[in-house]
Amino acid sequence: MSSFRGRDVLSIRDLSRADIELVLKTARRMVPTALGKRASHTLEGKILGTLFYEPSTRTRLSFESAMNRLGGRVIGFSSAEGTSVQKGETLADTIRMVEAYSDAIVLRHPQEGAARLAAEFTEKPVINAGDGAGQHPTQTLLDLYTIWDEKGGFAGQNVALVGDLKYGRTVHSLTYALAEFGANLTFVSPPTLEMPREIVEAVKEKGLSLKVTHRLEDVIRDADVLYVTRIQKERFPDPQEYEKVAGTYRIDANLLREAKRDLIIMHPLPRVTEIAPDVDRTKHSLYFKQAFNGVPVRMALLQLILGGTA
Ligand code: CP
Repeated sequence: MSSFRGRDVLSIRDLSRADIELVLKTARRMVPTALGKRASHTLEGKILGTLFYEPSTRTRLSFESAMNRLGGRVIGFSSAEGTSVQKGETLADTIRMVEAYSDAIVLRHPQEGAARLAAEFTEKPVINAGDGAGQHPTQTLLDLYTIWDEKGGFAGQNVALVGDLKYGRTVHSLTYALAEFGANLTFVSPPTLEMPREIVEAVKEKGLSLKVTHRLEDVIRDADVLYVTRIQKERFPDPQEYEKVAGTYRIDANLLREAKRDLIIMHPLPRVTEIAPDVDRTKHSLYFKQAFNGVPVRMALLQLILGGTA
């Protein structure tokens, strides 16, 4: 039986290298089922509760797709509107209720630490689908899967993380994981949106190559992976501060003329203006495939947590 059975997934740092490798290998075997080419009933009779207190397209729908592809069912909400949260029900009480109705809980919440708090109120597995500017571990698993699938591994890959490194939770989780796997990291952000100090320190402790710059032009020639993020407008306490940095970076086909032939461009999506539509047609664009990869990866995770087998 897998060590995942019944486990919470709250932060990527809760997973060992072996855990992550197991998810990636399991996900690869899930691809035909994720594409609808093979049927599976391994989670028949299981119910997943999806509680989204913040907007989502990919995370929520790919969890739903994953559970359905494995023969399970999904209940939940896509907004706290229309739920008893509007009447003042606490997160703890909501979790206690959904525990009674489901076998595992997926939670997206605007407050950092919400998933860890939720896990204290239930014996059922809690999966963090994004907690404020904190962590987004299942996004990291699908990001790792995408790099591993395209590049064959992580060690020695030049990965540039671009955009809002302060509020972007996907880059926080991904940085921890890539540092663990030995990638060369470069952080590219406006001065006011740099990677939090504790994450920078964690990378340095690994003794890995780490560069910091504010200019996209500094990384475009050497990058193997360009991981682009949206400036997280909704997390700025002051809208004027957002206006100062909005549109700082824009990847377009012209810029990519200097890139390596096999550069891949990733983005957790949604994008706004940071990747021009003309990039979609280039061989570098991988963000839509990356979004699809969320299905086999989340299938793997659900199978391991609820089914106990790889
Ligand atoms: N990547 C991601 O978390 O997308 P959603 O916000 O649409 O779920």
